[in-house]
Amino acid sequence: MGQGPAGQRDTGAQSVLRIGLLGFGTIGSGVYRLIERERDEIIAATGVELRVVKVLEKDLQVERPGLPRELLTDDFSSIVGDPEIDVVVEVIGGTGAAFDFVKTALESGKNVVTANKQLLAHRGATLFQLARDLHRQIRFEAAVGGAIPIIRVMRESMIAAGIHTVYGIVNGTTNYILTAMAQGRGDYAEALTEAQKLGYAEPDPTEDVSGGDAAAKMAILASIAFKSRVTMADVSYEGIETLTLDDVRYAGEFGFVVKLIGAARLIGGRVNVRVHPALVPEDHPLASIQGSTNAVFLEGDVIDEIMLTGPGAGGRQTASAIVSDIVSIAGTKTTGFLQDCSCYKSLDSIPSEEVPSAFFLRVNVADRPGVLAQIAGAFADEGVSIESMIQKGHADQAELVIVTHPTREDGFFRAIDAIAGLPVCKGRPVTLRVLS
Ligand code: HSE
Repeated sequence: MGQGPAGQRDTGAQSVLRIGLLGFGTIGSGVYRLIERERDEIIAATGVELRVVKVLEKDLQVERPGLPRELLTDDFSSIVGDPEIDVVVEVIGGTGAAFDFVKTALESGKNVVTANKQLLAHRGATLFQLARDLHRQIRFEAAVGGAIPIIRVMRESMIAAGIHTVYGIVNGTTNYILTAMAQGRGDYAEALTEAQKLGYAEPDPTEDVSGGDAAAKMAILASIAFKSRVTMADVSYEGIETLTLDDVRYAGEFGFVVKLIGAARLIGGRVNVRVHPALVPEDHPLASIQGSTNAVFLEGDVIDEIMLTGPGAGGRQTASAIVSDIVSIAGTKTTGFLQDCSCYKSLDSIPSEEVPSAFFLRVNVADRPGVLAQIAGAFADEGVSIESMIQKGHADQAELVIVTHPTREDGFFRAIDAIAGLPVCKGRPVTLRVLS
């Protein structure tokens, strides 16, 4: 940190923390504006002036309102080569150039703040190890849950909480779409179009609707919760693209709301992390999370249950988390407190088929005597117990909707294979997990 007088400006600060900002898009410009706006407050609270001294962008000709032109550079080496710069803030995204920038920044003695969940979920192990070796920090509060202070809370406030389960609604785009479907505003395609028009969904929504964005965030949360590295490759994920309005409506009839749930569990010393649509009981706190809001629900031996909720995206919301990380670096720079991801364990993973789930199942069958007995028999053969069922008749066809008790997934899916092969079944059953 630049010690001594705070430069030419008389701000009253005891020291200046100089920042190199990589990227001036929605988040980068939000960070710059927030630092400008909160400068005096941060000095009053910490004695430190945060000062952005360089901003990396490819095109120096683009007009960037509010940003003094002399701060702009297209030369990364001028940032890492500047000994006065203490912190590099990476908000360009991606796992290629961003990796090189973060690695070089650490090697050049800088601390790093990043909002880049994919970078950390794919290549975090290398970067955290490097940070640890070099006694530098990588902070990443903005990588999960936008403005929600979930990383710091899990790493510090809950270090002794015995967390064994993390459920997350960590993707705002999909929660917006599912909320719109549940409210009858349209089917999946219509709700996606609405989300795109309002700017909640990207023009190419693949990473969000496929569950990939949520999977990266759950890898990060699981690594912190269980203190053992979980990478993107360890997380199985499914998206919401094939969900129908019928599924959402039937879920409602059974007293459930459909959500894209990230689930990280510690079971018998092994870890399982995945993302999939799930039926959430209407009285569960996660069922009340509407629109693009995010939430993380934690269960631990010591804490019972805690849920944190708030905006999961947005320029100024994400900037709030980034500025808090910069201030944390100012406060912990000399101690090197929490330099890495706290992953000092190396836990095995538990295959998803061994993890028990309750299931929702919808299947079209012929409506004649003995059909239900065949389906119940297929479940009985695999030890799957039915909790509730409704049947809707349509002429000589019937739609059966069944919710099971929690059961091992391998047995359940063997039963589904058997049911799909019955001559009385029309097509393969639709299956969704139930949060239980
Ligand atoms: N695209 C994400 C979402 C926000 O829809 O929640 C950035 O992580």
